[in-house]
Amino acid sequence: YVIGIDLGTSAVKALLVDREGTVRAEAAREYPLYHNYSGWSEQDPDDWVRGTLEALRELTDGLGAEADAVEGISFSGQMHGLVLLDGAGAPVRRAILWNDTRTSEQCREIERTLGERLLGIARNPALEGFTLPKLLWVRQHEPEAFSRAATFVLPKDYVRYKLTGELHMDYSDAAGTLLLDVANKRWSTEILDAFGLSPQLCVPLVASHDRVGELSSDAAAASGLSQRTGVYAGGADNACGAIGAGILSEGVTLCSIGTSGVILSSEADKDRDFGGKVHFFNHGKPDAFYAMGVTLGAGYSLSWFRRTFAPDESYDALLAGVGDVRPGAGGLLFTPYLVGERTPHADAVVRGSFIGIDGSHGRDHFARAVLEGITFSLNESVAIFRAAGKTVDTIISIGGGARNPHWLQMQADIFDAEVVALETEQGPGMGAAMLAAYGCGWFDSLEACAARFVRHGATYRPDAAAVRQYAGLFDAYRQVYAQTRGLGE
Ligand code: XUL
Repeated sequence: YVIGIDLGTSAVKALLVDREGTVRAEAAREYPLYHNYSGWSEQDPDDWVRGTLEALRELTDGLGAEADAVEGISFSGQMHGLVLLDGAGAPVRRAILWNDTRTSEQCREIERTLGERLLGIARNPALEGFTLPKLLWVRQHEPEAFSRAATFVLPKDYVRYKLTGELHMDYSDAAGTLLLDVANKRWSTEILDAFGLSPQLCVPLVASHDRVGELSSDAAAASGLSQRTGVYAGGADNACGAIGAGILSEGVTLCSIGTSGVILSSEADKDRDFGGKVHFFNHGKPDAFYAMGVTLGAGYSLSWFRRTFAPDESYDALLAGVGDVRPGAGGLLFTPYLVGERTPHADAVVRGSFIGIDGSHGRDHFARAVLEGITFSLNESVAIFRAAGKTVDTIISIGGGARNPHWLQMQADIFDAEVVALETEQGPGMGAAMLAAYGCGWFDSLEACAARFVRHGATYRPDAAAVRQYAGLFDAYRQVYAQTRGLGE
C-alpha cells in the first residue's frame, strides 16, 4: 500500500491506496480556522500534525498486522501558508494561510521593489495569498516573532518535518512563495537580496517524488506505521489534484473545486507566457509546469450559503431542487467574491453580490445562482487560457463541483467544453498517493501510474442552447465586478 495525505484548509484526509490504485480506506480529521480580524485566516500548525497522526492511526488500526505493508506515504498541501520556525523547529506564531488577505501593502512594496523582474523570475504577480508578502508582514508588524524565525516552510512541509525531523520544500509548493526562480528551480537570491532576507530562511528544495526521510520513532509509534515506511516529499494541492486526475501533459484541462476553485493545464514549456494573468508554477511531475487561474471563494461560497441559510441540511438536500430551475436561475446572478477574487481581478477587497432578485425566486434559485456564479468565475480563467491560444475542449472535473450532476452539466454549458468526471474521485490525496507509488518504484513514470490509477467516469456534453444562454449571462456577470468593486472597502 501507499498513503496519500491531503492537508486541506478545513481538514486532513488520508487515503490508503493499493497497487491497483483502489482506495481501500480513508480517514479524515477537521481542525479550526481562525479569522481574528477581517481578512485574517490562520491555523495552528500543530493541529495539522495531530489530525494527520490521528488519521494515519485510524488507517493502520484498520490494517492491523498488515500496517507494515504500507511502503510509502506522501503529501498534498494547501499552498502558500507561512509557517515560521525557530531554531528548534517550533512555530513562532500561527500559520498565515493562502486565503488571508492582510498583505496588500506588502504586495505593493514587492511590485515597487522588483517591477517586471518579479514576473520574469517568480512568474507570478504579487498577490496577498502568496508567502513572500506574509514574511514581509510579519517582519513589519511582529518584529519580535520574526527575529526568532530561523526558517520558513509551507503547511505540508511542517507536518512532514514533525514526522521525520527533516526540513525540505518541493518545487511545486516553493513556486507559490514568490521566492523561487521557477524556470531554473532554485531559490532566487535576487528576490531574497532585494528584501534583505537571509537565504538561511529557505530550506533545501526537492522533487515531489523524492524520498526525504523516514518516520521518527515517535511518529511511527503515534501513527502505527513501520519506521521503514518511505516518506516522499509531496506537492502543492493543485499540482497533486492535477496528478490525481492524470493531468500530466498538455491537452486536457482540470477544473478542481475545493474551498478555492482552479482551472489548470499542464505546460511543458517553461517560457510559456500568460503575462501574469494566470499563475505559472512548477508541476509535481519532474521538469513540468502548470498554468492555473484561481477562484478564491468557490466551495467556500457554497459552504457559506449552506451554513447561513440551511445549516441543518446536507449539501445533497440543499442542492436537490437545483435541477428544477432552468439555466440562468431566473435572472438571479451571484458573484462569489466573499473573500475577494484572485483571477482575473487580483482584488482582495471586492465582495460578492446577488443581483436580479425577483419575487418569484425561492431558495432553489439562490442555490442554482451560487453554483452558476462560482462556475462563471472559473470561466474567466478558461477565457484567459483560450485568449492565450490554448484549446480548452475537454475538462476533467474534480472536487465538490464533480459531486453533483447538475453542476457538472452547468460546467459543460458554461465552459462550452466536454466535462469528464472520474470514476472514483479522490482529489489531491490521490495525487499524493501516486507520488508515493512512483517514489517507491512501483512505476517508472507518473504517466504509467496514472494509466493504472485514473479511471474516467461520465462525460457531460455542452448543450447548444444552454451554451448560448450562458454566454450572454457571462457577459452580464463580467460587468458586475466594475459596479461593485468598491463596496467592500
Ligand atoms: C492556489 C491557492 C489555493 C490553495 C488552496 O494558488 O491559493 O488553491 O492552494 O489550498
